[in-house]
Formats: sequence, structure tokens, C-alpha cells
Amino acid sequence: MMHEDIEEVLIAEEQLRAKVVELGEQITRDYQGKNLLLLGTLKGAVPFIADLARYIHLPLEIDYMAVASYGDATRSSGIVRIIKDLEGPINQKHVLIIEDIIDSGLTLHYLMDMLKRRNPLSLRICALLDKVRERDKQIALDYIGFSIPDRFVVGYGLDYAQRYRNLPYIGILKPSVYQETIDPRSEHRSPAEFQSRERVE
Ligand code: IMP
Ligand code: MG
Repeated sequence: MMHEDIEEVLIAEEQLRAKVVELGEQITRDYQGKNLLLLGTLKGAVPFIADLARYIHLPLEIDYMAVASYGDATRSSGIVRIIKDLEGPINQKHVLIIEDIIDSGLTLHYLMDMLKRRNPLSLRICALLDKVRERDKQIALDYIGFSIPDRFVVGYGLDYAQRYRNLPYIGILKPSVYQETIDPRSEHRSPAEFQSRERVE
């Protein structure tokens, strides 16, 4: 059943599952004999990494990083703050970043720079969704689930104002939902408050 705030289901549950299996097989082939660390970004990539890890048939470790970036409700700014770091060093590990979505690429660009300085054996990116748009920062994505149009999507980990992460599919959010939230007549939230707020990915 489709949620009332969703305009259209972009990627259904079965399509997500099939893609996760395919990516898992590819990663299994590519990382044979390597000391693999899956690095999930909190919170958006949690459902994806949990599903994907079960289709990677290799010994591996999982760790998480939480970053927050300044931006408005639907766009990030590239100014990133680390809220939770990795537990240990990565210089003996092949690191594969597992991301939910690449939009401007600013968040990931910052993260990659920082991780490279820790000298991992290799550093690659697996993103479930790649938004097709002009990028401020060019990023080479090693594994991509789906290329999607430049629309605001939620579900399967992705949120709007921390909601909708639990939807089992990826859906396009009705624009009226976020237009309502930043309505200046709204009692609780002013547009300025929304525009300058820090957002946990
Ligand atoms: P970037 O720095 O613009 O690439 O921002 C990436 C982050 O912004 C993602 O990890 C998401 O947390 C968030 N984001 C970007 N686009 C969407 C979207 O369509 N829906 C939900 N979150 C998004
Ligand atoms: Mg994210």
C-alpha cells in the first residue's frame, strides 16, 4: 500500500532486492582474498548495508560513520561535521563506502578526502542511488544501484525531516509535503530555521 505523502513509487521492493543481490555478487567477486571493511553512513544507508552485507559471501567487517552537513531541508552544503567516527584505523583494510544516495556529491567528497589521509589499502564507493544532475564535485562511483532523476525521494533509509526511512520502497515525496513545512505561516517552524539547520545524513 502506498503512503499518502508519496507521489509515485520510483523503485519497488522487488527491484531493490534484485539490485542488492546483483551488487552483492559483484562485490563478492571483486574482493576475493581481501580484508574488506564495509563503511556505512548513518543513518540513511542502514537498510541498504544490512541487506547488501547478506549477499556478500566473504569474511568482512562493518563499521559506521555519522556525518551531518549544513543545508536546507532538501539540499546539502558540503560543510560536514563528524558525529561518529570509525572504531579503528583503516590502513590494513580495503574500504568500501556504502552510501544511500549521491546528490551534489559534496558530502562524499569531503568524506573521501578525510579517509584517504588515513591510507586505506583501497577506497571505493557503492551508492544505491545516483541522482542525475550537474555535480559541484565530480565523484567516481564504483558501484551504482540506480540512476534516478533529480527529484526528492524517500524510503529504504532515506528521510525527509527524519521521517519515511521505514518505507520498504523508494518513492518520490509529494512536493506539497515540504512546501507545507516551510510555510512561514506555520506555527512551529520558520523558513530561516529550516534553511540553516544541521542535518544528519
Ligand atoms: P550531497 O552532499 O548533496 O551528495 O548529499 C547527500 C546526502 O543528502 C545523502 O546522503 C542524503 O542524506 C541527502 N539527500 C540527498 N538527496 C536526497 C533525497 O532525494 N532524499 C533524501 N535525502 C537526500
Ligand atoms: Mg546519507
